[in-house]
Amino acid sequence: MTAEVLRQVAEAVQPGVTTGELDVLTRRLIEGLRAKPSFLGYHGYPAAICISINDEVIHGIPGRRVVLPGDVVSLDVGVFYKGFHGDSATTVMVGVTDPDVVRLVETTKQALAAAIAAVRPGGRLSDVSHTVESVAKVSGCSVVREFVGHGVGRHLHEEPQVPNYGLPGRGPVLKPGMTLAIEPMVNLGRPEVVVLDDKWTVVTRDGKPSAHFEHTVAVLEESMEVLTLA
Ligand code: MF3
Ligand code: CO
Repeated sequence: MTAEVLRQVAEAVQPGVTTGELDVLTRRLIEGLRAKPSFLGYHGYPAAICISINDEVIHGIPGRRVVLPGDVVSLDVGVFYKGFHGDSATTVMVGVTDPDVVRLVETTKQALAAAIAAVRPGGRLSDVSHTVESVAKVSGCSVVREFVGHGVGRHLHEEPQVPNYGLPGRGPVLKPGMTLAIEPMVNLGRPEVVVLDDKWTVVTRDGKPSAHFEHTVAVLEESMEVLTLA
């Protein structure tokens, strides 16, 4: 459900649409599934989706802002159904021509794919974290340190935290039944971020663009499964 909602909202991201309209669409899609938006009301968050454009890293609040050609738009959505949360994010380029921005988005997507490939029962959590950081570094991008991925399940945010940096071979051993939201937040410039006065929107301190991808991943007996594939 999370995957399907995210896919449909991503398709609706076109020049001229407002982020508020995308929030309404998200609410309608989730209602149509007889599910609930995980984010709405979470610690007072006022919308069903986080939409973060250009220098916004995460937790952008939908509103009157119009999507324009050249924008890099991250969408983050959570769906709650029959007692469990799904959590997934993607970043859409709207008529982006800047090759640095393309490199940023491709790098972040690759970082998530590589991190997921590092998930295995008996493996260590920080192998996942380290993988994100390595992929970002190779491409000359930086990872955000103040916000992290997380366990996800009956609650949106559960133990353990899943940082996007760190040395390999550390942290908890991955065990069958664990479900993790792995979510690289990667910046084209410096890693530092600032929270705006709305208390939610996280932006890069240097004003350069940022990208975000996220999947909910389950550790299985002998492998893993991405639970938020459309
Ligand atoms: N998917 C994000 C996360 O994993 C956004 C949740 S914050 C909320 O933390 F407040 F908007 F719900
Ligand atoms: Co998350």
